[in-house]
Amino acid sequence: VKVLVTDPMDAAALARLRSAGHELVEHRGVQGAELAAALAGCQALLVRGATKVTAEVLRLAPDLRVVVRAGTGLDNVDLDAARARDVAVHNTPAANAISVAELVFGLLIALERHLVPASADLKRGHWEKTRYQGRDLAGRTLGLLGFGRIGREVAVRARAFAMTVRAADPLLPAWPPEFGWVQRGDIETLLPEVDVLSLHLPLTPATRGLIGARELARMRPDAVVVNCARGGVVDEEALLRALRSGALRGAALDVFAVEPPGPHPLLELPNVIATPHLGASTADAQARAGLEAADILIDTLARITA
Ligand SMILES: NC(=O)c1ccc[n+]([C@@H]2O[C@H](COP(=O)([O-])OP(=O)(O)OC[C@H]3O[C@@H](n4cnc5c(N)ncnc54)[C@H](O)[C@@H]3O)[C@@H](O)[C@H]2O)c1
Repeated sequence: VKVLVTDPMDAAALARLRSAGHELVEHRGVQGAELAAALAGCQALLVRGATKVTAEVLRLAPDLRVVVRAGTGLDNVDLDAARARDVAVHNTPAANAISVAELVFGLLIALERHLVPASADLKRGHWEKTRYQGRDLAGRTLGLLGFGRIGREVAVRARAFAMTVRAADPLLPAWPPEFGWVQRGDIETLLPEVDVLSLHLPLTPATRGLIGARELARMRPDAVVVNCARGGVVDEEALLRALRSGALRGAALDVFAVEPPGPHPLLELPNVIATPHLGASTADAQARAGLEAADILIDTLARITA
């Protein structure tokens, strides 16, 4: 089957598709009518986040049967239009869980040990040994909101840091048996008891603004919030007020309600560490996403063409 590839893709993923007998057509960066034209004769499209698979593109590409996005989120695919045209759409949600979990600890330790300002000071020639006293993670309680793929990877790493781990995930049908050592709770009981609150749930109408003024007020004033999920899950105005007033000690943010956030007041606070949505930005995550996408494409095409 002819597979159009329009975004940069890991070489191993392309090799796997070729060895499964598929023909790859590579047109990087095409959009709109140009994308539709490139799709002529192609039953499959392999993308990352940059290619926009709009209703118009889907209308102009009658041969297309499946779109696979290497990565999470499907914001770049018009899912309703794909459904209406019976085009299958898949992503690779598992590929970046480890990378996001590692970033959580990177951010958390950087926040707790003042790594960013301490390093900047030293590079300017200032040896500020006494100024940057930090805090250990050991013995502290981590609360996870959302106990899916990423939440569980975070839990495993928190255990290695000798943290107590609690988690709330009301939508989980059954608690994974290998995580009996994680204390299960609900958000209401979790909030006042955790030193670190880390968010690992999707942004949905139900979770938008889930952590607002009321929730932040229920947390300990020396607690910190880590958000490597989606910006909209936290009410940024409420977070800003809590951090400014001392109702919350700090925040580590990889995601923002609007990205890029521009000159956001949260970014001016010394008790905030922030990264530009880097959770999945590792070579390993990209490679895993490519391979997972290739496997999904191979399976789906086998079913479609059977
Ligand atoms: N920073 C990044 O680069 C990056 C990368 C990948 C994913 N993410 C974000 O991380 C989120 C989690 O990813 P995942 O792979 O673990 O997803 P997942 O689907 O495996 O897990 C999400 C969990 O959240 C739970 N959940 C839903 N609503 C909830 C609520 N109101 N309270 C508590 N739990 C709730 C679900 O039941 C599910 O178990 C994604 O939705 C995405 O927004 C961020």
